[in-house]
Amino acid sequence: MSQAVLISDNEVINSLFELNLRAYVAVNINIKPDIESAVALLEHIPNLDAIIVFKNLSNDPGDLSVLEKFLAKKKMKVPLILMGDHAKGHKQAIYIKNKYNIKQLLQSMAKLLELTAVQMASREVPNYFPIPIRLLKNMESSYYDLYSRKQKEDFEYDYEQVIEKSIPFGDKLNSFIQKDEDYLYIDSQFRLKFINKVSSFMIDELNKPDLSTEEKIEITAQGHSMVAQEVFDDPKVSEAVVAVSNTCIKAMINVVKDVPKLRGLLTMLMENQGDYIFKHGVVATFIASQMIEKMSWGSKEQIDKVAFSIFFHDLFLVPIYQKYPDAISEEDLLFREDVSTEDKEVILNHAKYAGEMIQSFPRAPMGADMIISQHHGMMNGRGFAVNYKDDISPLSKVIIIAEDTANGILQDIADGNKKDSLNPEKLIKRLNARYTYQSYRKIIATISEIQL
Ligand SMILES: [Fe+2]
Ligand SMILES: [Fe+2]
Repeated sequence: MSQAVLISDNEVINSLFELNLRAYVAVNINIKPDIESAVALLEHIPNLDAIIVFKNLSNDPGDLSVLEKFLAKKKMKVPLILMGDHAKGHKQAIYIKNKYNIKQLLQSMAKLLELTAVQMASREVPNYFPIPIRLLKNMESSYYDLYSRKQKEDFEYDYEQVIEKSIPFGDKLNSFIQKDEDYLYIDSQFRLKFINKVSSFMIDELNKPDLSTEEKIEITAQGHSMVAQEVFDDPKVSEAVVAVSNTCIKAMINVVKDVPKLRGLLTMLMENQGDYIFKHGVVATFIASQMIEKMSWGSKEQIDKVAFSIFFHDLFLVPIYQKYPDAISEEDLLFREDVSTEDKEVILNHAKYAGEMIQSFPRAPMGADMIISQHHGMMNGRGFAVNYKDDISPLSKVIIIAEDTANGILQDIADGNKKDSLNPEKLIKRLNARYTYQSYRKIIATISEIQL
């Protein structure tokens, strides 16, 4: 098994990283709370595949140069994986800005170990896979049956089912903790699914009220891609997906309330590793929520509804943008020759699919499914409007204008016209040329009052 050291004092992160690294890339980790104690440990581990440094905003792991000096002195060439907001300029370092991005950590680790995706998936694992009990402590029940292990003979074990899936733990889990057991086991075939579910649950837990705006954005980006992943694995929306989505949407509403100006939000987003779908959604949420505030009929309930709708509106495009990362817009994707016919069918129908998914989403705001279906101006959710009609829902119109504004701004920034990108007269002029109905133009006019 490969070896790595993790420097982190966050118990949740420690458990999550340990579990994911072991399951996906067969890496065993030693955990130390700070640089100093990690350096002391390194004296005893000569063959190390990586050192992972997790940086909390509230808690600095210590001076990285101490670690680097030590490695240089010992002539150890160990790559560093720096998670979070670390200063640039470290040698042999891989930077992962979003420190909760487990997927990127695993990809970096696989690359260091020269593992291919096929090898990762086909790795042999024993029939039962250990799960740290301390990770289960925060949960009420398990997603799969849990087993305890008893030694039969040397290197031979018996596994006995002790906790049934979906049944509340009650005192059962505590009885294992009291016996000083560290692990319970699950059937190995479910291990990756289980880990993904626990990971998203824990990210949700990490969403404490004292988080900074940057951290909220990070977590929401992470949550958004987890929700997309989960929905494609299993279109029946689970309670875990509902919980993560609602946490993210709530965090997003707080972010757009906390940030005084769009300018500041854009700076934070440029630093963030989230994908285009996520970023244009955040900018559109900021613009839409301010537009609604300026409307005579605007209310908090409608801001919540719009934030919810924007979170999901392009969810079905997430895997497509991953396949064609240089795509600049939905229309661009539709006309490209290298995009497959099946993918084009998804692009044409993505508004309809997302609307249909929300119809069965537990406790979704009323009418959100329709708002999402109509976000390209088409009644039935199929295709893209050329002439925007007057008879679609008013909140869909807000989303259409807010998105169009957001896309224009992001495009300008990408083209290097940052200075001019937030000029309200310019924004309004461009939109007025495209939308002729009075109902749209009323929404467009509010741009002059938005805190850009
Ligand atoms: Fe969109
Ligand atoms: Fe869309």
